[in-house]
Amino acid sequence: MSVVGFDVGNLSSYIAVARGGGIETMANEYSDRLTPSVVSFGEKSRTQGHAARSQAITNYKNTLSQFKRFIARQFSDPSVQKDAHVVPYKVTQLPNGNVGMQVQYLGETETFTPEQIYAMILTKLKATAEVNLCRKVVDCVISVPQYYTDLERRGVIHAAEIAGLNCLRVISDTTAVALAYGIYKQDLPTPEEKPRNVVFVDCGHSSLQVSVCAFNKGKLKVLANASDKNLGGRDFDWLLAEHFAVDFQTRYKMDVKSNQRAWLRLMAECDKTKKLMSANATVISMNIECIMNDRDVSGKISRADFEALAAELLKRVEVPLKSVLEQTKLKPEDIHSIEIVGGSSRIPSIKETIKKVFKKECSTTLNQDEAVARGCALQCAILSPTFRVRDFTVTDLTPYPIELEWKGTEGEDGSMEVSHKNHQAPFSKMLTFYRKEPFELVARYADTNLPLPERRIGRFKINGVFPTAEGESSKIKVKVRVDGHGIFKVSSASLIEKLPAQAEDAMEDSSPEENGPSKEEGSGASQSENDAPMDQSPVEGGAGEGEASADKEEQAENGAKETSKDKDQTSEGSKSDKESKDQNSEGSKSDNGSTETDAKATKKNKKTIKTHELTITASTDELSIAEVNNFFEKEGKMIAQDRLEKEKNDAKNAVEEYVYDMREKLCDKFEQYVSEKERGSFSKLLEETENWLYEDGEDETKSVYQAKITSLKKIGDPIENRYKEKHERPVAFEELGKALMLYGKTLDLYSQGDEKYSHIEKDEMAKVEKCLKEKEAWRDSKTSAQNQKAAYQDPVVTAQQIRSEIQSMKFICDPIINKPKPKPKEEPPKDNGPTPAEAAKDGGPAPTTEGEEKMDTGDQAPTGEASKEGETKPDETKPDVEMELD
Ligand SMILES: Nc1ncnc2c1ncn2[C@@H]1O[C@H](COP(=O)(O)OP(=O)(O)OP(=O)(O)O)[C@@H](O)[C@H]1O
Ligand SMILES: [Mg+2]
Repeated sequence: MSVVGFDVGNLSSYIAVARGGGIETMANEYSDRLTPSVVSFGEKSRTQGHAARSQAITNYKNTLSQFKRFIARQFSDPSVQKDAHVVPYKVTQLPNGNVGMQVQYLGETETFTPEQIYAMILTKLKATAEVNLCRKVVDCVISVPQYYTDLERRGVIHAAEIAGLNCLRVISDTTAVALAYGIYKQDLPTPEEKPRNVVFVDCGHSSLQVSVCAFNKGKLKVLANASDKNLGGRDFDWLLAEHFAVDFQTRYKMDVKSNQRAWLRLMAECDKTKKLMSANATVISMNIECIMNDRDVSGKISRADFEALAAELLKRVEVPLKSVLEQTKLKPEDIHSIEIVGGSSRIPSIKETIKKVFKKECSTTLNQDEAVARGCALQCAILSPTFRVRDFTVTDLTPYPIELEWKGTEGEDGSMEVSHKNHQAPFSKMLTFYRKEPFELVARYADTNLPLPERRIGRFKINGVFPTAEGESSKIKVKVRVDGHGIFKVSSASLIEKLPAQAEDAMEDSSPEENGPSKEEGSGASQSENDAPMDQSPVEGGAGEGEASADKEEQAENGAKETSKDKDQTSEGSKSDKESKDQNSEGSKSDNGSTETDAKATKKNKKTIKTHELTITASTDELSIAEVNNFFEKEGKMIAQDRLEKEKNDAKNAVEEYVYDMREKLCDKFEQYVSEKERGSFSKLLEETENWLYEDGEDETKSVYQAKITSLKKIGDPIENRYKEKHERPVAFEELGKALMLYGKTLDLYSQGDEKYSHIEKDEMAKVEKCLKEKEAWRDSKTSAQNQKAAYQDPVVTAQQIRSEIQSMKFICDPIINKPKPKPKEEPPKDNGPTPAEAAKDGGPAPTTEGEEKMDTGDQAPTGEASKEGETKPDETKPDVEMELD
C-alpha cells in the first residue's frame, strides 16, 4: 500500500510520501518539489506541470489553471462567473448546468469537466511519486480547502478515481497542517491538562484559511475554522497589474488590458515584483520588453505604495482571523502560537496583520510550502494498516450546519438540524421515523450565508417501507453520517417489525423500558406519520481512542471506492430481511448509542421483533458511476497518447542529436577515419536531414524517425567503428603477443627437461607447438596486411577477432600444459627412520634434497613436500604452472 499525500493547490501542487523513518517531499523531473497545477493542450498531446506552465502565455487559450475553483460548481454560480472572466480560457456550461472548460486538443474542440482536469494533475503527481518510489501508487490522501462543500469533496474523490487513485481521505488544508505540526511535538500538555491552542493560517494563491486547534498529547481537535475563499496571492497580483495598467495607459498610451498576452505577461511580472517586495523594502523596478506593439515598458513601486494599494485586501485578512477567536470565545492570550503557511503568508503586511490581531509574532515552524502535503502523507500513514505511526487522533469539523427535510404524509413538512456549524466530524446519528410507505429525506446546508446558490446536498429515498399488520406506521431507524471526508450520507435504514408474541413475551413487549424510547414512540405513533424524527441519538466521534478506531474503520468503509460502493448499496440494498437475532450482532458491530438501546430491547423480545434492512436511493449532483468510468477510460487513452507522443519526440530528438554529434565529429575526432569524398557526401546528407527535421519531417511517426536514424547509422557506424578499432586493436595485439610469449616459455622449459612438465607426453606438447606457430603466423600476416591500410579504410582484423584467436589458443594449449602430475607411489615404511610426513607430524624438519629444491622453480610446493610449519601439502589437483592469459 502506498502512503502518499497530495496537496493540489490552486497554483502549485506538492507530493509527500511516508518512507523509512519519516516524511519526504518528492521532486519532479525538473528537480523541483513544486509542480504547477496547470494542464496545457496541444495538437498532439497534453502536458501537465512545468511543461504546461511554459505554455501559459503562448498557448493561453488551451492552458488550464485555477480549475479547483470550478469543481462541482454550477455555471450560473456568481463566483464561477467572476472566475470565468479572469481566466484566459473558455469556460462553458455543461448540459447538467455545471462548468465545462473548452480547449483545442488533437485538432478538435474538447470540453473537459474540472474533475477531469484535476485528475490530469493527479496523473502527473502520481507518475512523479511512482518514479521516486519505484512502485505503483494507488492509496493516497488529498487536501481540500476547509470550506469545500459535500459536492466539491465528492468531486475530488471522483478526480482521484479518474486518475486511478484510491483517495482514503480528503482532509482540510489547515487540518493537514495542524497534523504536521502536532504529531512531532513532544511537549504537548497531557490529556488532563489545559490544551495548547494554536492558530494555523494558510494564505495561498486564491484563498485564505484560518483554523484554531487544541492540542494535547496524542490528539488534536479543530475548534473553529474561518476563511475567505476569494483572498489570496492572485488578488495582490491583480491589484498590482491594475495599477501598472493605468500607469502604462498614462505614460505610454497603451491599453495592456486589450491584449490578453500583454495582460498575462504583466500579471507574471507583477507576481515577481510582489515577491521581490516581500524581501526588499526598497523601490522595485519592472521592465517588460515588447509587451505589445513591439514596445517596451517599465515601472516601479515601493513596498509602502503597494501596502497602501492593498489596504482593502489587508483589512479583509483580519476577518477570518477575528472570526476564529469569536467562534471559540478565545482571547489572544489563550493562543499559544500562530503558525503560518502558504506562499502569500510571506507578504510582510499579512504577517503584520496577523500579529496585530493575535498580539503575537507569527511562527514558521513548518515548511510554508510543503506542510499541507506532509500532513496529508501523515494522515495516509495513520490510515495505512502497513505503517506504524505514533498514536494521534484528529477530530475535525463539519464546515457548515446540515439540516434534513422531509414531507409529512398528513399536514406539515418536517425538518431538523443534523449538525450545527463546527460540529465535530466524523459522526453518526440515528433517527427514528414512523411511516407506512417509502419516504424521502432531503439534506441541505442550513447556512444561508453559504457561498453557494444551491444549498442542497442530496435526496435520499428510503425504500421498501410497509405498514404494520394493523395498518399502522412502522418504526424506521435511519442512520445519517458525516464521514471522514466530511461527506454527508444516509448510511443505513431499517424497519422494525413487531411480530405476534407469546403470552409472556407479549407482557415484556408492553413494558416501556424494554421497548426503547416508548413515550415519544407512543405519541409518535398516535400522531401518525407527519412528525419529526422521534429518536435522535448522536453517535459522535470523540477525540478519544474510540475515535481513532472509528477512523480506521472508516478507512475501510470509505476510500475512492466508497462513493460507488454507496451507490451500489443504495441501488441494491440488503436483499433479504434478517431476523432480529442477526440484526443484533450487526447492530452492535457498526452502530452504538441508540442502536445499542434498540439492540437490548430486541434481544429481550427476540421472538417478537424482526428487523428489515431497507435500501436507500441516493441522488446527489455528483458524477455518476458511468461518468466516472467513462472519464477514467478517457484519461487512460490520453495517458497512452501522451506516451506515444513522448516516444515519438524521443525518436525525433535522437535523430537531431545524431545529426549534430556526427557533424561535429566528422571534422574532429573522426576526421582521418573517413575519406574526403565520403565526408563530403555524409555531411551533405546530415545537413539535408537537419533541414528535413524542420520541414517535412517536423511531425512524423516514431517509426519514420527510427528508420531515418538507421539509414544514417549505416554510413556513420563504419566510420565510428574504424575510430574505435584503431584504438582497441593495438591493445588486443599486445594481449595476443603476451599469450604467445608465455606458451613459448613453457615449450622452452619442456625442451630443457623441466621436472614440472616431465609428465606431459611429447606428441601432446607438439600440439601446443603447432598451435603456437599457427597463431604467430596469423598475427604476422594480419599485422602486415593492416599496416597496408589507410585509417579511413575498414580494418583487416578487429580487436574482437584477435581476442577470439587468443581464446581458441587457450582452449587447445591450457588442458595440455596444466595437466596434473600423477600421484607419487607410496613407499613402504622403512625401519631406519620416519617418513617425511611422519617427521613433519612430529614437528621435525622436512627432509628435502637439494635436487628437489632446484626443481621447484614455480610458486607451488612440489607434491608431497612438507611445509615449513610441518604440514604436508597434498597439492595434487592444482596445476603446477599458473599462467595469466586473461
Ligand atoms: N515571497 C513571496 N512573497 C509574496 N507572495 C508569495 C511569495 N512566495 C509565493 N507567493 C505567492 O503565494 C501564492 C502561492 O501560494 P501557495 O503555493 O500556497 O498557493 P496554492 O496552495 O497553490 O493555492 P491555494 O492554497 O489558494 O489553493 C502565489 O500567489 C505566489 O505569488
Ligand atoms: Mg494551498
